[in-house]
Amino acid sequence: MLELPPPEVERRPVTLAARLLQGGPVALVTTADRGNANVLPVAWMMPLSTRPPLVAIAIEQSRHSAEMISHSEQFALNFPGRTLLHHVQYLASLSGKDIDKFEATQLETFVAAHLSAPLLRDCLAWVECEVQKVLPFGDHFLYVGLVVAVHVDPQAFDEQWLLESDDARPLHFLGGNRYSTLDGLLEARLPRASEAPERVLSERVQEELELTREARERREELIDEVLRDVDAGKVVDLGRLTASGLVIPTPNPPDAS
Ligand SMILES: Cc1cc2nc3c(=O)[nH]c(=O)nc-3n(C[C@H](O)[C@H](O)[C@H](O)COP(=O)(O)O)c2cc1C
Repeated sequence: MLELPPPEVERRPVTLAARLLQGGPVALVTTADRGNANVLPVAWMMPLSTRPPLVAIAIEQSRHSAEMISHSEQFALNFPGRTLLHHVQYLASLSGKDIDKFEATQLETFVAAHLSAPLLRDCLAWVECEVQKVLPFGDHFLYVGLVVAVHVDPQAFDEQWLLESDDARPLHFLGGNRYSTLDGLLEARLPRASEAPERVLSERVQEELELTREARERREELIDEVLRDVDAGKVVDLGRLTASGLVIPTPNPPDAS
């Protein structure tokens, strides 16, 4: 029998579906067309096929990059870490129609293996794509790219993102001017064939709840400690709080997709 929604569930506008899907790594998409290069941050991006390797990005039709990708039939995904956090936001506040973003930021580049689009030096991984198909959807174009080369910084990515150091984790976009990096690794365990899956899984829910509760308690203790230090007039290392997962908000959310 179908149950009514639980009381804590609230309805929201349909436009928020995109924000719910958001949280994958941000890419700085570089393009080159008729002697000009450009770069824009993109969060609407997905893998489509393994053989052949296909990925897709959705670009709003009025963006300068849309015209460049449509004409040059190529783009590169450059995956930034937190060192480029403020660059990402700045690059999204400009259009290549009005300004040379490479000149404005002095970001260093290097040559791609297959494309004329430049690759960004200070990123963690790079994917070169040739456009296979362009599909209009609403106010965006979906560019389907055949992956023709992948490059990685092995400190950041091996077969998967390694997440070993703070500056070697990809950036994830939440909307506005808010980003995150992945907190750490969680390894999922399957129930054994001999075990009743619903019982084992529900025990594991309890286990995970316990672990998140412990983490929250540790963070609260840390905040108390920092507040005591502030009261005592000591110098406070805010890095301890952010390292524990606490977000210290910043102002000015500009528009994004
Ligand atoms: C983190 C982030 C992600 C974004 N993702 C997208 C996206 O997926 N598609 C898109 O069309 N615009 C996206 N935007 C907005 C563009 O990056 C922005 O409008 C940019 O200035 C367009 O540059 P251009 O006119 O030079 O192409 C995003 C903005 C931010 C801050």
